[in-house]
Amino acid sequence: MERALIILKPDAVQRGLVGPILSRIEQRGLKLQGLKLMQVTEALARIHYGEHEGKPFFQGLVEYITSAPVVVAVVVGKAGTVEMIRTMVGATNPAKAAPGTIRGDFGVEIGRNLIHASDSPESGERETSIFFDDAELIQQWDRATDAWI
Ligand code: TYD
Ligand code: MG
Repeated sequence: MERALIILKPDAVQRGLVGPILSRIEQRGLKLQGLKLMQVTEALARIHYGEHEGKPFFQGLVEYITSAPVVVAVVVGKAGTVEMIRTMVGATNPAKAAPGTIRGDFGVEIGRNLIHASDSPESGERETSIFFDDAELIQQWDRATDAWI
């Protein structure tokens, strides 16, 4: 199994796109392990985006992610899940992201690109531990079978 941290960034929450974006993830068959609405502090943002410290967009990125509430989720699936989610998310610049991807369908601004997704299984673990306590994560539950519907 493999897991990724997803952040529905302030623009996704402010535009009422939490449902549509989470739907895509659920409909793909991925399972939630954790989910919450929160305000990211500057300290948390700087840790999460530590790899980008010193880059020209870093300060703006920290200001954006802390500007309004976000929805954070931990999503789990079989091996290859992280790469699959990145494909669903699309290119960093929404203006260049393929139609059918989340960024390619909902946005145009690189500075308002709707969603963060971990870029490797290792980042998935690191970022999950930054945003969630173990007690907030449900490690095992079963999706419904067709018998219910
Ligand atoms: P990055 O990790 O490269 O992109 P991704 O979110 O696709 O993994 O960059 C982190 C965020 O920084 C990105 O989502 C948007 C912002 N950013 C800019 O504003 N300008 C840029 O030139 C880059 C590369 C990123
Ligand atoms: Mg990244």
